[in-house]
Amino acid sequence: MSNRITMDTIVSLCKRRGFLFPSSDIYGGLASAWDYGPLGVELKRNVKAAWWKSVVHSRDDMVGLDASILMHPMTWQASGHTENFTDILVDCKNCKKRFRKDHVGKNCPSCGKSDFTEGRAFNLMLKTFLGAVEDDSSVVYLRPETAQGIFVNFANVVETARKKLPFGIAQIGKAFRNEITPSNFIFRTREFEQMEIEYFTRPEEAEACHKEWIETRYNWYLDLGIKKEKLHLRPHAEDELAHYAKGCTDIEYEFPFGMSELEGIANRGDFDLKQHAQFSGKNLKYKDKVTQEEFYPYVIEPSGGVDRGTLAFLTDAYHQEEVKGEKRVVLRLHKQLAPNKVAVLPLLKKNNDIVTMAKALKNDILKLYPCVYDDTASIGKLYRRQDEVGTFFCVTVDVQSLEDQQVTVRDRDTMKQERIATAQLIGYLKERLD
Ligand code: GAP
Repeated sequence: MSNRITMDTIVSLCKRRGFLFPSSDIYGGLASAWDYGPLGVELKRNVKAAWWKSVVHSRDDMVGLDASILMHPMTWQASGHTENFTDILVDCKNCKKRFRKDHVGKNCPSCGKSDFTEGRAFNLMLKTFLGAVEDDSSVVYLRPETAQGIFVNFANVVETARKKLPFGIAQIGKAFRNEITPSNFIFRTREFEQMEIEYFTRPEEAEACHKEWIETRYNWYLDLGIKKEKLHLRPHAEDELAHYAKGCTDIEYEFPFGMSELEGIANRGDFDLKQHAQFSGKNLKYKDKVTQEEFYPYVIEPSGGVDRGTLAFLTDAYHQEEVKGEKRVVLRLHKQLAPNKVAVLPLLKKNNDIVTMAKALKNDILKLYPCVYDDTASIGKLYRRQDEVGTFFCVTVDVQSLEDQQVTVRDRDTMKQERIATAQLIGYLKERLD
């Protein structure tokens, strides 16, 4: 059976099984806004936890931060967002529809005519007002990236965490952009989450450090199971680079709608700290305690999207195959990412002894791993249900279990079944899941 999938397949699985729902669904939804359901929220939390473990908890040169979404408006002047964070838009004079200039060819995608207005810059930052008065003095922006929260805290972190170069600050959080053409499910939305690192280094070490981060981040996706042939590194051409960047390489994934950016890893030079020093009047240079030398560090920025990552893991894990003449859909999610690690299934839901034993096992497993109990269908259906959401192991309790204190453990990927003594079950799971 072919494993070619479309976005519709993924969207439909996500809705059917509670990974994602349209936002405000009962009111007809809100364009490009999505809610993570019971399984989706677990998957997304696991993606973020795997990232945090890899870039913060496993390293002694990194610390974390959780800056606020609303920041002083000067932040965005210093960063260049007020002036430069724009898309150029054109209006079709015939049908009055508005498009991103770089997304339309000669003819209007809606009416086919070729009569556009001149391009006009449209700022992508979402505005709101702080306090009771809605005037120019109370305007603030919902941050369009988490990065600036890190730069404005650079001096605070250096002082309190006593970090020496090279070191980095990691942050996960929401960002907002008034995208003109949100598209492809959770790939491009107006509200999304980023996982960003600003890694500070001596200027002369920046290039080597940039290469290291590209490799580290590329391997992170591979280690979590993304297929190598679907993952690409794309260095930016000179004319593509943001005004501040000295170099940038994107990690791209081959989504059903084409090869698209998952994460960008940029060498931002000393642009950001210099800008914030100038606009705030604060000294944001780094002082080497040994040599007393003072300078602006260079910054390497691996900047990824949580939602894009989650979509890539979901898409990559999706497999359909034929088993005994029937279609089996299985999400081969990495064990760190699977929302549920174990499901306990009683073979006969009307047998009280089986149910009692199964529920007791489920409670034991729950102390260590996310585990569900399900008795609402036949065993074949229950297995398929768990396969479809990526549950690693199914543990089945049957009549024989009551006599020999053994259960059947079924592996999601191989579908192999083993009889395991209940006394050894936790050890068996630990060996395979930890
Ligand atoms: N601080 C650098 C920065 O924000 P970016 O390339 O604009 O760089 C980084 O964004 C990452 O954030 C992207 O690689 C993508 O994964 C995610 N991202 C950006 N815009 C997004 C959107 N509208 N919807 C979902 N994810 C988005």
